[in-house]
Amino acid sequence: MPSSPQSHLPTEIIVQIISYVSADNRDRQKTLHACCLVSHQWYSAAVAYLYERPLVNTGIAFQRFTETISPPLGARKNKLNLGSFVHRLNLSHLVHHSSNSLTARLLGRVKGNLEVFAAPSLTFTISSLPALSKCLNLRNLDLSLVHDPIPFPALKQAISKHKKLTTLRLPQSTILTEPESARIPWPPSLQRLQISGRFNPLLIPTFSWPPALTSLALKNCSDLSVTNLGSLLSSPQLGSTLRRLTISGANRGVQPESINAIPAFLPNLTFLSVPGDMVDESFFDIICHMFPPLALTVLEFGLPCADLQLNFSTKSLVNALKTGLTNVREVGFANELVTDQLATEHDEIDDVLRQLEEHRVSQSGSGTQDEAQIGVYLLP
Ligand SMILES: *[C@@H]1O[C@H](CO)[C@@H](O)[C@H](O)[C@H]1NC(C)=O
Ligand SMILES: *[C@@H]1O[C@H](CO)[C@@H](O)[C@H](O)[C@H]1NC(C)=O
Ligand SMILES: *[C@@H]1O[C@H](CO)[C@@H](O)[C@H](O)[C@H]1NC(C)=O
Ligand SMILES: *[C@@H]1O[C@H](CO)[C@@H](O)[C@H](O)[C@H]1NC(C)=O
Repeated sequence: MPSSPQSHLPTEIIVQIISYVSADNRDRQKTLHACCLVSHQWYSAAVAYLYERPLVNTGIAFQRFTETISPPLGARKNKLNLGSFVHRLNLSHLVHHSSNSLTARLLGRVKGNLEVFAAPSLTFTISSLPALSKCLNLRNLDLSLVHDPIPFPALKQAISKHKKLTTLRLPQSTILTEPESARIPWPPSLQRLQISGRFNPLLIPTFSWPPALTSLALKNCSDLSVTNLGSLLSSPQLGSTLRRLTISGANRGVQPESINAIPAFLPNLTFLSVPGDMVDESFFDIICHMFPPLALTVLEFGLPCADLQLNFSTKSLVNALKTGLTNVREVGFANELVTDQLATEHDEIDDVLRQLEEHRVSQSGSGTQDEAQIGVYLLP
């Protein structure tokens, strides 16, 4: 088709239009694809956006994507290096659609600019590590669905030079305290870590955590009894660097005593999320006796481990807010745990949080950050 004169716009205008389309998530991929078909000029302007964060959540989409990015031998190749346009790749929806070698080959193609990667559950294995080790621009790596028991030292080795990596979710059955891993450095900028699987309670107190770690999530750990969690939390390194701790309801062995151990070991946390059903009156007894008050600004009663109900009264929480929790601005509840009765009591909690805020403002003159939220919120 000869290009008609009226379809010729200055490239800057086309780029403007495409970046506008690209910022809108509704039908983003479809619209960008349509833009690529308009003319050569439109194609050149839109193709990088089209491949930037491809939606590959069905088997057929994945197949087309891999055939384009990594064409089979002998097939006609695109002159552009399409893989270099990919910045985010989320393969968490895929189960049987890939294969170990295909996942590895795909990573090899997109390694140049990949910043965010979520691995598929079955086809990311130890054989993917050489390709992963070349994705040096990764910022966020999510291996939480990976089934293969990848030895932790091998994984750590593969990512230890990833200077930009700030967020890492480890595979389901990681054994964290394998001794050989101690010699291998963590990625230097790693701030947020999610661990799953097992650790040796005798080795964990001296475990070397990432030097820049500020946020730790424990999810699907095999035993978070008070003995095990206590030895983990007793690490002096965690005490001084950690600001955010999330203990998910999807852990085994959690007891109310495990939760009770947290305030004494980690008084400087600003965010704490724990399974709502694992908090009982004794948690607030402990907190009421803490001085100075905890640094916590957000306390979340998250998805439960077992029981769909809370085992403490609003009165105990309110008392704690006035004593050991005077820095708290927000209290979150998992929706599942909220009964009609509790919903009416949330107003009371809101009131106390507002009074505390007024008090802080009158004490310091300046108040807290303007943007800080105050009050009760529900978790989706
Ligand atoms: C990948 O997609 C899933 C499902 O939509 C989402 O829950 C997850 O947060 C995504 N992962 C990343 C790293 O963006
Ligand atoms: C927890 O990990 C086990 C393997 O250790 C796995 O089979 C299970 O699916 C995981 N559960 C969740 C909720 O991730
Ligand atoms: C908490 O912070 C205070 C003040 O910065 C510090 O003196 C204390 O050692 C910290 N606590 C822990 C357990 O590291
Ligand atoms: C609720 O907490 C009390 C201690 O405060 C404990 O004895 C009781 O077993 C707990 N109930 C449930 C259902 O966990």
